[in-house]
Amino acid sequence: MSRFLIALALLAPIPAMAAAPGGVPELPPYQMRAAQPAGDRLQPGRDPKAVFEHSCGYCHLAGGMGTNLLTKQMMMMKRPPSDGLLANRRDLTADYVKAVVRGGKGAMPAQTRVDLTDAELNAVAAYLAQKPGPKGGKK
Ligand code: HEC
Repeated sequence: MSRFLIALALLAPIPAMAAAPGGVPELPPYQMRAAQPAGDRLQPGRDPKAVFEHSCGYCHLAGGMGTNLLTKQMMMMKRPPSDGLLANRRDLTADYVKAVVRGGKGAMPAQTRVDLTDAELNAVAAYLAQKPGPKGGKK
C-alpha cells in the first residue's frame, strides 16, 4: 500500500517542472510580431493601429530596437523617455513619417512597398500624426 502511495506521489505533476530549464524559453513580447490585420493590403480602411503593430511594432513597440534608440535620443534632448514610443509622440507629421519609412533614417532601414503598401503607409502615417491623447492633441 505504501509503495502504491509513493508511486502515486511520484506521478503527481510537480509545478516547478513546468519552468524547468532546458526547454525553449518564451520569446519576449517585442519579438512576437503582431498578426497582419485582415483585409486588402492595397485598399484603405484597415485598422491603422493593427497595421502599425504588424509593420512597425517589432521595432517600435515597448522593448523594440527602434523604441530603445529613440528613447535614448529623447532623453538626450531632455524629452520624456515615454516619447521613445512613436505612438506617444505629438510632434510627428504624416509627411515626415512617410519620408522616414520610405527613405530610412539612421539605424532604421527603408521599408519597401512589399513591407508596407502605400495604403498601409497612409493609414499608419495618419495614425501617428493625429494624437488625441489626454491633453487634447497639443504638441
Ligand atoms: C527594423 C526596425 C524598424 C522597423 C521595422 C521600423 N522602424 Fe522606425 N525606426 C527604427 C529605428 C532604429 C529608428 C531610429 C533611427 C535612428 O535615429 O538611428 C527609427 C526611427 C523612426 C522614425 C523617426 C523618429 C524621429 O524622431 O525622427 C519614424 C517616424 C519611424 N521610425 C517610423 C516607423 C514606421 C511608421 C514604421 C513602420 C512602417 C517603422 N518605423 C518601422 C527602427 C525600425
